[in-house]
Amino acid sequence: MVVNNDLITWSDKFSSGVKLIDDQHKELVELVNEMFNHVTGNDLQEHNYFNRVINDAVSYVKKHFTTEEKLMIATKFDGYAEHKKEHETFILAVVENIKDYEAGKRLTLSTFTRFLKDWVLSHIALMDKKYFEYFKKVATRKADGKLSINSEDIRNASV
Ligand SMILES: [Fe+2]
Ligand SMILES: [Fe+2]
Repeated sequence: MVVNNDLITWSDKFSSGVKLIDDQHKELVELVNEMFNHVTGNDLQEHNYFNRVINDAVSYVKKHFTTEEKLMIATKFDGYAEHKKEHETFILAVVENIKDYEAGKRLTLSTFTRFLKDWVLSHIALMDKKYFEYFKKVATRKADGKLSINSEDIRNASV
């Protein structure tokens, strides 16, 4: 088996401590890895795969962004506007890349997936990290030992 050095290994350094967010980030990592596993170098195969999965992939990314943004609003996180802008800019860039890929411009599945990977990893490390500590402060530890935010935490969130 060929070892793909592009694959992402989940690490605790990506962990927010909020289970809902971590589960979604893990799902995003899975999604990127799944794409890398379909880089065959065969254009037709890659295009067929891409067409099959891209809509669901984009929907999942949007769903994740909505989750983060809802939590930011609910907890009155002051980095909300800046963060939302980053999400929007990324979605626009993804749409452009998809158009390019579909139009057969330079892009390959491999470069597209690398673009996704680089953005997801740097966004988690730079932008998402900014709310990790803040969410932890307003979160309660649940019975399973993971942190999650409940309605009481949201009511108690700083103004
Ligand atoms: Fe995120
Ligand atoms: Fe984010």
